[in-house]
Amino acid sequence: MVLFDRIPPFPAVLHSVGDEEFAEYLYEPDEIASVTTSISSNPATNYRFENGRRYHHREESWPVPNDEKQQNQMDLFHQVYSLRLNGRPHLAPITPSPRRILDVGTGTGIWALEVGDIYPSASVVGNDISPIQPRWVPPNVKFEIDDFNEPWMQAPGTFDFVHAREVHGAVADWPGFCREAFKVLKPGGWVEVAESAVQLQSDDGTLPADCALNAWLRNISEGFERLGRTVVVGPNIEQWLRSTGFEEIKVEVFKLPVGLWPTDKTERDIGAFNLLNMIEYVEGASLQIYTKVLRKSLDETREAIADAQAEFKQSSKDFHMYIPYYIAYARKPLSSI
Ligand SMILES: C[S@@+](CC[C@H](N)C(=O)[O-])C[C@H]1O[C@@H](n2cnc3c(N)ncnc32)[C@H](O)[C@@H]1O
Repeated sequence: MVLFDRIPPFPAVLHSVGDEEFAEYLYEPDEIASVTTSISSNPATNYRFENGRRYHHREESWPVPNDEKQQNQMDLFHQVYSLRLNGRPHLAPITPSPRRILDVGTGTGIWALEVGDIYPSASVVGNDISPIQPRWVPPNVKFEIDDFNEPWMQAPGTFDFVHAREVHGAVADWPGFCREAFKVLKPGGWVEVAESAVQLQSDDGTLPADCALNAWLRNISEGFERLGRTVVVGPNIEQWLRSTGFEEIKVEVFKLPVGLWPTDKTERDIGAFNLLNMIEYVEGASLQIYTKVLRKSLDETREAIADAQAEFKQSSKDFHMYIPYYIAYARKPLSSI
C-alpha cells in the first residue's frame, strides 16, 4: 500500500487507428445487440421528486439524488481525483491501445468521456441506472441504462478494462460485482475499483472524535449498512478480488485532504475542491438516509445537514482532515476463459 503517493504526470498518449479498424469495433456484433434501452422510452426518466431533490424512480435503487446539483458534486469530486492522480484517469497498467472499456455506475460520464479522448483506439461504454449523461458524445463513447446489481448483459470476455469509481453504498453484493467484472473481461484484462472511505481522519489529532462531522459520517455509514449496501469497500476489496480469481492485485491508498489547511499548494488545491465537494455532498447523501432509513424527522435531518456543512466551513483550517481513498486494480489471468 502506498500512502500519499506522488504520481508522475500522465503522458498525453494518442493512439491513432485506421478508419477500418475504427469502423470494425464500432459495429461489433454484440454492440448491435446492445442492452441499451432508448433513453426516451425508458421508465428511468420517470424521476421522483422529494424535499426539493430529484431521484431515480425506484426508491430502493439509490438513495442519492441524480439532479443537476448532485451532478455538479460528482464533477467536483472528479476534479479532486484528477488532481490527486496528476491527471491520470486510472492506475491499472492496461494495454496502450485498449479496444473496449466499461465504466460501471458512470454518473455524469465525465470519466468515460475523458478516457475516450485519451484512448481513441477504444470503444468506451458507461452505464448507470440514471440517464444523466450528455447525449452528444464522441463516436467512441456511448452510455447505456443498466443496473449493475443485475447480471451484467455485456458479452463475456469482451472488455480490456472495467472501471468502477465511487459506487460504494450502491453495490448490493461486492463479491458478486467482482464476479460480473471478471466475467465480461477478456483474459489478461484489468479491473479497477476506486473508492473513498466514508470517513474523515487527521494524523495530528486536530479532528475531534465527537465533532458534528464524525456524528454525520457515523449516521451515513449506519444508514447504508442497514440498507445492505456497505460503504466499507477499501479494506475489503483485495479479498473480494482475490476470491474471484483475479491476480496481480494492488491496492494503493491516498489521502484526499478536505479544507484549506494544507500548506503545500497542490494539497491545498485538492483540499479546496474537496471542501466544496463535501459541502455539496452532505445534503444529497443525507436526505433519504436520515429520513427513510434512520427514520429521523425532516427537521432533525436538516439540522444535521446544516451542522455538518457549517463545521466543514468553519473548521477547514483547524481540522487537518482527509479522506482515505483506495484504488485497487487487478488482472484476469491469461489462462482463464
Ligand atoms: C457517486 S456516483 C459516482 C459516479 C461516477 N462513477 C464518478 O466517479 O464520477 C454513483 C453512481 O452510481 C449510480 N448507480 C447507483 N446504483 C446503480 C446501479 N444499481 N446500477 C448502475 N448504476 C448505479 C448512480 O446513479 C450514480 O450515478
